[in-house]
Amino acid sequence: MSLPGLKDKTAIVTGAAGGIGAAMVRRLVAEGAKVVAVDLQQAGIDALVASLPKGSVIAVTADVSDEASTQNYVDTAVKHFGGVHLFANNAGIIGERAPLSEMSIPWFDKVMAVNTRGVFLGLRAVMRQMIKQGTGGSIVNTASIGGIAPARARSASYAASKAAVVGLSCTAALENGKHGIRVNAICPGGVDTDMASPDARAGKSAVFATYPIPRVATTDEIANFTAYLLSDEASFQTGGVYPIDGGALLV
Ligand SMILES: NC(=O)c1ccc[n+]([C@@H]2O[C@H](COP(=O)([O-])OP(=O)(O)OC[C@H]3O[C@@H](n4cnc5c(N)ncnc54)[C@H](O)[C@@H]3O)[C@@H](O)[C@H]2O)c1
Repeated sequence: MSLPGLKDKTAIVTGAAGGIGAAMVRRLVAEGAKVVAVDLQQAGIDALVASLPKGSVIAVTADVSDEASTQNYVDTAVKHFGGVHLFANNAGIIGERAPLSEMSIPWFDKVMAVNTRGVFLGLRAVMRQMIKQGTGGSIVNTASIGGIAPARARSASYAASKAAVVGLSCTAALENGKHGIRVNAICPGGVDTDMASPDARAGKSAVFATYPIPRVATTDEIANFTAYLLSDEASFQTGGVYPIDGGALLV
């Protein structure tokens, strides 16, 4: 593991207690970065921190949809590690799987609050800090193939929230190249985490069987591509919207 531009940098990863976020934290630590691991579930991030070399990760319990909590995870990175250079803006929820005509308004609002407002607040706070530092930085927002092909989301609120992540990501890239900040969005297909359906995870999904790579992704496969985008190896990549889906969008 030796992607350029990650060693000794400070990264923030949200949704760090989840499958994809934890894999991102592990990969960034393996690359020599210091990481602020953010999640709503304190026990999950505490366990992750305990499994990694002492001093490499700090856990911050936060609701990403709350402005003060968001500022707190940025302030923690600055206080403990001296700044923020890398950001995996990854926390998200699937919410309610129901036809739009039957969708509950509280669930719609909740999904938009976590997946869209949370990504917006994170981008805003982190980019302000990066601009203040004058160091530039690299940001990866986790969208979904559901955000670019709504049928794949099987949920209107999730599709809308992830399409908004693509919009936020591209706008942030457009506005911040002049500050040396690169911003990209990843669009995973099915990934082997609690969010995917049990059938898909067990290799029993008829839908997944039709894909060029007929399985869910491992969390490491998502973390690998994210680490590449965060690193200097991807120094000319900004405003990208990248499916990581085993070719699912072709079908
Ligand atoms: N698993 C998939 O199939 C899949 C596919 C496409 C996109 N994604 C996206 O990948 C990202 C990570 O998901 P995952 O698959 O690791 O799922 P996961 O459920 O394993 O992890 C999500 C994490 O986000 C945290 N979280 C939820 N709400 C939060 C909040 N308000 N504040 C802080 N943390 C919060 C959860 O506690 C959890 O640890 C999400 O944005 C998800 O939408 C997942």
